[in-house]
Amino acid sequence: MNKIALGVTSSISLYKAPDLIRLFQKEDLAVRVIMTEKATNFIHPDLFTALSGEPAIVNLFDERQRPIEHIALAAEVNLLLIAPATANLIAKLAAGLADDFLSTFYLAVKAPVLIAPAMNQAMFEHPQTQANIKKLRETGVEFVEPESGYLACGQTGSGRLASLPKIVETSLRLIRRQPVFKDQLVVITAGPTREALDPVRFLSNRSSGRMGYELAREAYQLGAEVVLISGPVELEPPAGVKVEQVVSSEEMRQAILKYYDRARVVIMAAAVSDFRFNRTSQEKIKKENLPAGLQLETTPDILEELGGLKQDQLLVGFAAETAGLKARAGDKMKKKKVDLMVANDVSRPDIGFGCEENEVYLFWPDGREKFISKTTKRKISQEILTEIGTILNERQGNS
Ligand SMILES: Cc1cc2nc3c(=O)[nH]c(=O)nc-3n(C[C@H](O)[C@H](O)[C@H](O)COP(=O)(O)O)c2cc1C
Repeated sequence: MNKIALGVTSSISLYKAPDLIRLFQKEDLAVRVIMTEKATNFIHPDLFTALSGEPAIVNLFDERQRPIEHIALAAEVNLLLIAPATANLIAKLAAGLADDFLSTFYLAVKAPVLIAPAMNQAMFEHPQTQANIKKLRETGVEFVEPESGYLACGQTGSGRLASLPKIVETSLRLIRRQPVFKDQLVVITAGPTREALDPVRFLSNRSSGRMGYELAREAYQLGAEVVLISGPVELEPPAGVKVEQVVSSEEMRQAILKYYDRARVVIMAAAVSDFRFNRTSQEKIKKENLPAGLQLETTPDILEELGGLKQDQLLVGFAAETAGLKARAGDKMKKKKVDLMVANDVSRPDIGFGCEENEVYLFWPDGREKFISKTTKRKISQEILTEIGTILNERQGNS
């Protein structure tokens, strides 16, 4: 089990730290809390001990701890996260001071270090604080930028602790990142498209976008630069991912083409509408003016177009079928020059469209196939990205 050392300091936003522990535990991470002495003015260590299941550490010299606890713990953790971090703590770390457990531990840790500052705007913008942050960045420390908004001091400005999901996602990325995804652009499409009949009516499908959003989250955690091109869905975009909102299949096509040259991996998880109306009205069509013989036409096949334009991009396609799954997915893969095809049966009510879970086959052009039995879309996205990582490694000759 991965373990995080969570350093907390005497910032007013300390009240958010207990929630952070819960969020990490939901991600199967163990948390060991280290408090500055002044932080204990705001929250008693017993609260963190109870939530984390391990004694919260405050003092460097404490006979209940192992003899050299700061060195022993440093070897056990996969990340040191300091959230919230005061201006004072940041200054101490930048100066290399080691006069309490947290600052001493920081010098002993070899794992990545992530700092989430939280303070009054003037304190954050002070040239001394900015110089301290710059200095720490130069030594490899990562920061989650504070947000702008209402501050506890009654002012509005920059300095508010970053959102907890953002802190969690950035932490997971530092723990899980893989060299093969570093600096690689992964473009993922998600959700349905809407093909307008008039300003209020459209043709669409039941795609929820969940599969694509989970893939984007996973790709970000593995260290990729991620662009998520999303049709209209009801989902919160994953933190750290650049989102391009589109509506129609043509908008989706244009958005993908904008990134295609630079993309290393393209995952077409969107349910792009196969049809659109051959004519659209700029005005709402009145009931009594229903056009006789409404006609549909096929939309451009984006996956096929990408296959034709492909250079060294790794192209991943999704096939949603209601019958003849394997044969149809195999045909699509060849015709569209896809490097990995993910196929699922959308006739089943318990998986696929709109569901939390899915069950898929993966097909490779060399005839290999893999069945992933019914599980969460998160687990499926992890399996798919693992296979993508393997192909990228093979292509780079690192296998
Ligand atoms: C009510 C209160 C709220 C505070 N909030 C913050 C804060 O959000 N950020 C900050 O940098 N300092 C804040 N401070 C000041 C720090 O507590 C102070 O600089 C302290 O010396 C930092 O000690 P530590 O870094 O060891 O926890 C606050 C102080 C008080 C009394």
